Amino acid sequence: MTPPVKIAPSLLSADFVNLARDVAAVERAGADWLHVDVMDGHFVPNLTLGPPIVKALHKVATKPLDVHIMVSNPVEFAERYVKAGAHVLTCHLETEPEALGVIRKAGARAGLAVNPETDIAPVRDLIDELDMLLVMSVHPGFGGQSFMPEVLSKIETVRSWGFEGDIEIDGGIAPATVGDAAAAGANVFVAGSAVFGSDDWAATIATLRETAEAKLAVRS
Ligand code: DX5
Ligand code: ZN
Repeated sequence: MTPPVKIAPSLLSADFVNLARDVAAVERAGADWLHVDVMDGHFVPNLTLGPPIVKALHKVATKPLDVHIMVSNPVEFAERYVKAGAHVLTCHLETEPEALGVIRKAGARAGLAVNPETDIAPVRDLIDELDMLLVMSVHPGFGGQSFMPEVLSKIETVRSWGFEGDIEIDGGIAPATVGDAAAAGANVFVAGSAVFGSDDWAATIATLRETAEAKLAVRS
């Protein structure tokens, strides 16, 4: 059985001057999780935020924080993000996958992200160490990029191994792309520009959810 659909708007596309306002509004609009993108200017060519902002978000959020750390040294930083309030903390396979153990030990659910060009095969040996797989459907670093359908076969592969945990897809998810991702076996959908760039966040989240649920139902 695939776990339930969750919609995780990415705060990267929120108004950083009014984060508390946007968190409350997107929660009211139906968000299940809040996706928080941490970028270090080294693993990815952009810089965003760190533990103090995650801590501040944790004070105002009522939904779980889904923190995606695009950093070269997750082992060094994992515990700080968990203490700051990350519910799920996702590091990258291309960095230090041994961070998965650090994340669980610190008390959060451990996620592992794979970039579009990264082979999925090595994940098989790590499968018992992760609570969530995150498949990147754009090159990480920026919101608003186009969805890469060629990554979907990785999701099918991991489901074919019998993985029944969460599989999140991140990058270019919108009403037009969410269905194919759900049909492949993803159940957690990050959407930044599609939600925050729309006129009606609640309607967009509802459309994403309904489209994903319809495709997942056919799958299982
Ligand atoms: C990209 C980030 C994404 C980004 C998605 O590196 O990991 O979470 O915010 O943005 P959209 O949904 O606009 O592609
Ligand atoms: Zn992300």
